[in-house]
Amino acid sequence: MITINDISKFDFESVPIDTFWNTGAEKESKMHRIHAYPAKFPAFITTKALEYAKLNNYSVQTIADIFCGCGTTAFEAKRNNIVFWGCDINPVATLIAKAKSRKYQQWRLEKYLTAILERFYSTPIPDLYPTANERLQYWYKNVQYNDLAHLKSAIFYETPPNSDYNLFFLCAFSNILKPTSVWLTKSIKPQVDPDKKTADVVTAFKEQCHFMFAANDQNNGLGNSISEIVTGSFLSSNTSAPKVDMIVTSPPYVTSYEYADLHQLSSLWLDFADDYRNLREGAIGSLHHEYNFTREWKRLNSTGNRIVSLLLDQHKSKARSVAKYFLDMQKVAEKSFDMLNEKGMALFVIGNTEYKGVRIDNAKHLAESLESAGFCNVQATKRKISNKILTPYRDGLGKFSSDASGRKVYSEEFILIGRK
Ligand SMILES: C[S@@+](CC[C@H](N)C(=O)[O-])C[C@H]1O[C@@H](n2cnc3c(N)ncnc32)[C@H](O)[C@@H]1O
Repeated sequence: MITINDISKFDFESVPIDTFWNTGAEKESKMHRIHAYPAKFPAFITTKALEYAKLNNYSVQTIADIFCGCGTTAFEAKRNNIVFWGCDINPVATLIAKAKSRKYQQWRLEKYLTAILERFYSTPIPDLYPTANERLQYWYKNVQYNDLAHLKSAIFYETPPNSDYNLFFLCAFSNILKPTSVWLTKSIKPQVDPDKKTADVVTAFKEQCHFMFAANDQNNGLGNSISEIVTGSFLSSNTSAPKVDMIVTSPPYVTSYEYADLHQLSSLWLDFADDYRNLREGAIGSLHHEYNFTREWKRLNSTGNRIVSLLLDQHKSKARSVAKYFLDMQKVAEKSFDMLNEKGMALFVIGNTEYKGVRIDNAKHLAESLESAGFCNVQATKRKISNKILTPYRDGLGKFSSDASGRKVYSEEFILIGRK
């Protein structure tokens, strides 16, 4: 860890890779793989953060993840029997995070699955396709749509409303929505694959449930600590975050994923929105924001101001999105400071990106924001992102590409730690 003394002169690129943060000692629990989620961070980051706190003689009783995503920190906090609070603006994220943080009895899971399948097979499947939401008609063939609608009613019929078990099976349902649709596999932009061999609904559901049962079986020793997971924007005044000892989080990157668009199938099927585009509202890093750029961008700190000025010349609309992202992240730093107990610790995992030759220095911007918010002794280190990046470039569809004119994503990322 290197202490940042003078942010204006600090060169993030020259920070050496610290192997302490590269890999974990244990194999990741299966629970971390029950549902796909983009930009998930490695589970061992939480364990390392706790080790780091211990090395610094700081005892952690409560952890928060203010961008909890699919609940990686939530689950690891539970494994360590530490009280957890998390929030995410994406209801699909909090569905997964909640499903991961509960404990289930294996025999009851088996019993519910049998009942759901029996109901599915023993009742006639109505043809609901003609009355389906237009967007779902776009993504599904008739057979898959009807089977999914029928399966969803069977889940609601057989599991107690709002129970942990209802949540578990809805999470399983959510993760089969892409393979059973014509969504181009692994694409991070919504795109139809006209040649896709779509999966059979019941086969996919059974496989998914059995994987989740095995993940649950691995977790017999899960702690009893309380986890609270809230759906909402961290920056909204309606989201009241409790005081905690430590924050462990990874913020969204600017304009890299439209989480609302990516999870539209789950949001529509699970009635989180009639129009998934409404879920973009308030999402940090989204391209879609209405705000007064001319007035607001003057509030950017010096790193933000420098980057936005570079973009303004040639990429006006990108400059506006980046400015909004930086302004939001400045508020995130302030609100994080407020929610920490005295001497509390905040750990952010954050990477830099590049847009058409302009480096978007997210790490430097956040470090400056942390300092301005009152954090003392802000430290930085670098870690390698394992097993991903074959080429650092992505094409217009967000797929990896060897074309260097695309958006660049680095194969390293930073860990920033600030103390209150
Ligand atoms: C990099 S991901 C976090 C992934 C997480 N560490 C995990 O392992 O799943 C960033 C998350 O920030 C969420 N997000 C974006 N804007 C938000 C906001 N205003 N308030 C809370 N969460 C937000 C996104 O929905 C996304 O899940």
